[in-house]
Amino acid sequence: MNCKDQKVSVSTFEKEVCEGLSAFPKYLSSKFFYDEVGDELFQQIMELPEYYLTRAEYEIFETQKSEIIRGFDSDNEGFDLIELGAGDGKKTKILLRELLDKNHDFTYNPIDISENAIEGLVKNLDLEMPKVIVQGQIGEYFEVLDRLKHISDRKKVIMVLGSNIGNLLHPRAIQFLKKLCNAINPGDLLFMGFDQKKHPQKVLDAYNDKTGVTAAFNKNILARINKELDANFDLDKFMHWETYDPESGTAKSYLVSKEKQTVDINSLSLEVHFEAWESIHTEISQKYDDDIVKWLTEESGLEVVQSFTNENQEYKDYLITKATK
Ligand code: AVI
Repeated sequence: MNCKDQKVSVSTFEKEVCEGLSAFPKYLSSKFFYDEVGDELFQQIMELPEYYLTRAEYEIFETQKSEIIRGFDSDNEGFDLIELGAGDGKKTKILLRELLDKNHDFTYNPIDISENAIEGLVKNLDLEMPKVIVQGQIGEYFEVLDRLKHISDRKKVIMVLGSNIGNLLHPRAIQFLKKLCNAINPGDLLFMGFDQKKHPQKVLDAYNDKTGVTAAFNKNILARINKELDANFDLDKFMHWETYDPESGTAKSYLVSKEKQTVDINSLSLEVHFEAWESIHTEISQKYDDDIVKWLTEESGLEVVQSFTNENQEYKDYLITKATK
C-alpha cells in the first residue's frame, strides 16, 4: 500500500514506519526507540562501562560546577533554567545543588515528552531539593518553549545534555539550533553537550557493548512495531551492526536481516520483504570537534562563548549565545 494513502488519523509512528520500511534503503527513526522498555534499556546503556558519554558529562559537572554556574548567572540577576529532554535529571542535580549552595535566584523547568519522566523528576526534586522552584512541562520541545516565552521575561538558560543533538544529521541539527536561536533573546544562553571525535574503536565499543544491551535497545524498535502495529518481526533473524566513519564523525546503527524473509505489519496492511543481509538504518550518533561546533552555531545565528571538557577531552559542554553580528 502507498503510505500517503493512509487515513488522516494515522499516527506519526505508523506513517513513518510505513515510509521507512517501504523505502530503499530501509530506515527507521531513533526517536521511536523510547517506549517504556526503550527508556529502561537506555538507563542500562548509561551505566555500561563502554558508554563513556554520561560519565564524561558527569565528570565535567562535578569538577567545574562553579565555573559553569558563574557562566549561567554572571550578572547575578537570576534566571530560568530550562532543560530539554530532562529524563531523570541525575546530572542536572549537581548543578541545581550548586545553584542552591551559592544562593542563586533561579527556577528549574524540565521538559520531556514522557509524562512519566517529568512526574518522577518533579516528585524526586520535591523530596531531595525542596527549595528548588520546579515547573515541569510535558510536550514537544518547541511547543513548550513558546509557552515558556510568555511566563517570565527573565534571562533563560536552555540545556540540551547527553549529546542528544548528535542524533540529528548536520542539516537537521542546524534547523534545531535555528529554532532555538529564534526562541531566545539576546543575553539568553544555551548549554549543550557535544560528544567529541576520538579513537574510532572507543566510539564503536560505546555503541556495541559486550553484554548486548545496545543490540537489545536497537532491536526494541522491531519489538515495538510487533506490539503496536501487530507485526511479526522475529528479532533473532536480525542483528545489530555499528559503523563509525572517522572522517565525518558519524556513528551509524543498523539492523541487518540475517536471511531472506518477509514480515507482515498487519495494522498497516504492509508486507515487508528483506533480502539476506539487507539493512534497516536506525540511528546516527554524531561526534564533533570545536570547528564543527563553531560551524553549526554560526550557520544558526549563534556563537560559542565558553566550553568545558573532561580530563581526557572525550566530551564537551558548550555555552552558546545569540551571535551579535
Ligand atoms: C540519546 N542519544 C544521545 C544516545 C546516543 O549516544 O546516540 C542514544 C544511544 N544509542 C545507542 N546508545 C545510546
